[in-house]
Amino acid sequence: MERLKDKIVLITGAAGSVGKAVADAVTAEGGRAITSDLAGRQGAAHPLDVTQELDWLRVIAEIGRTHGRLDGLVNAAGLAALGNIEETDFATWRKIIGVNLDGTFLGCKHGLALLKQRGGAIVNLSSVAGIIGGHNFAAYNASKGGVRLLSKSVALHGARLNPQVRCNSIHPAFLEGPMVDLMLKETNFPDAARARITRDIPLGRLGTAAEVADLCVYLLSDESRFVTGAEFVIDGGLTAR
Ligand SMILES: NC(=O)c1ccc[n+]([C@@H]2O[C@H](COP(=O)([O-])OP(=O)(O)OC[C@H]3O[C@@H](n4cnc5c(N)ncnc54)[C@H](O)[C@@H]3O)[C@@H](O)[C@H]2O)c1
Repeated sequence: MERLKDKIVLITGAAGSVGKAVADAVTAEGGRAITSDLAGRQGAAHPLDVTQELDWLRVIAEIGRTHGRLDGLVNAAGLAALGNIEETDFATWRKIIGVNLDGTFLGCKHGLALLKQRGGAIVNLSSVAGIIGGHNFAAYNASKGGVRLLSKSVALHGARLNPQVRCNSIHPAFLEGPMVDLMLKETNFPDAARARITRDIPLGRLGTAAEVADLCVYLLSDESRFVTGAEFVIDGGLTAR
């Protein structure tokens, strides 16, 4: 069970449910998880606001000094907001695009500086909302759709490098955890909304962060050495119909 033996992996949003599960899984598979999140968030070793380019430069330089290399990057920091195009104000739009898309852009860009030295893998957290639209998901849809195509562009660039860097995106449906709890709270009838989103999933339940982390382990490991520019839905069948 050492599928990530000695691999150094930087994880953003590592105080959140997916980021934490990824950090645990990386460690369990023999890797070294370097955790980061907003300053003050418990369970993250490095303060890193993904929207701040200077934060990225500082953390990547620190990893270079301490470990001399980076083998994997998981861009898991993210924010969700409900709202259709008419009700989404520009400040909310910019915040969601800032964290989800600008943050992933900066991570890929600055992570590559270290990853390309010995080759490695990037995993970007998109969402099923990066593939299919929702009437009340204007900013989130746009941000996650952007992450999907950004990942392919990074993959094509990384394939031309020597050593190569792979990049793939993951597209979960709703997961158990605080992000969905908060979103449901914004609706008028949270219990009915939870029942509806569960009903929409053919496997009949929400996913878990640990299930997403298992997929990340595969994409970070050498088992996926021929996999790049691909999008992985992990959605209980939601997008199959
Ligand atoms: N939870 C779901 O249902 C779900 C479904 C599909 C995709 N996703 C995506 O998976 C990723 C992880 O989601 P999660 O469920 O762990 O959410 P979460 O809310 O539990 O964790 C998100 C983390 O991101 C951090 N974060 C927010 N803004 C940041 C910033 N500017 N810089 C650094 N960190 C920041 C938060 O502090 C938090 O720890 C997100 O990109 C999310 O959009 C989640």
